[in-house]
Amino acid sequence: MTSELSNDNGKKKPRHPWDWYVEQQWVTHALVDMISLDDDVTYLDPFCGMGNIPMALRQRGLQAYGTDKFTRTNHPLFLGEHDFLGDQHHMMEAEKALSIIMNPAFSFQDGVLVQGLSLRICRRALEMATHKVAALVPLKWLSSETRYQFFMKTRPQILVFSERPSMPPGNEIEALGDKAWKRGKVDYMWLVWDKQNPHAYDHSPTLWIPPREKLKKPKVAA
Ligand SMILES: C[S@@+](CC[C@H](N)C(=O)[O-])C[C@H]1O[C@@H](n2cnc3c(N)ncnc32)[C@H](O)[C@@H]1O
Repeated sequence: MTSELSNDNGKKKPRHPWDWYVEQQWVTHALVDMISLDDDVTYLDPFCGMGNIPMALRQRGLQAYGTDKFTRTNHPLFLGEHDFLGDQHHMMEAEKALSIIMNPAFSFQDGVLVQGLSLRICRRALEMATHKVAALVPLKWLSSETRYQFFMKTRPQILVFSERPSMPPGNEIEALGDKAWKRGKVDYMWLVWDKQNPHAYDHSPTLWIPPREKLKKPKVAA
């Protein structure tokens, strides 16, 4: 995903070669709290990285797993390495009821800019899933000549984040410590497709995800 592109001193940082930019679990909780997700469906995040999406879904009682091209976690919900854009099918594709929820690689594969990557990923997810597909993408993704026909045909629901999610590179989180999650710099949304009701809308319903309540610092007596 696009994310923090510059240092505090304004200098451009090289992107992670596989777009490993990590969202926090509240980002997925916000999705689950705004739309209805079926209990009797298996959920897959095929770009799971350290596994925040499947972990957040599990916390909401859903049966969720993750795969990724690389092993970035040893969590039991990680089902192993899988190239979502490769020729091999994953056994999860045989699930009778499958939804895909993902923060996909946005534009880079092995350090190379791939035009149309996120659209290709969304199309593939829509072929694979039987129920819902939800993709976390930058808000600016809506505005595009190349995706116009896709949006007109598929009419996703749009959930706009009022608060910018922080999305640091996964390989820097440990070193950054608390600073990893200080503030996001890019506006994001969830796009949600429901394959059980593909013609539900002749428009794209839009919802706003409220900002989280800020923790107030306790007043120190003078
Ligand atoms: C935006 S990050 C997802 C972050 C994740 N939600 C987390 O908790 O770490 C995208 C992830 O997609 C993976 N990825 C990139 N290209 C891939 C591909 N072709 N197939 C599967 N995974 C891929 C990267 O390794 C990276 O972990």
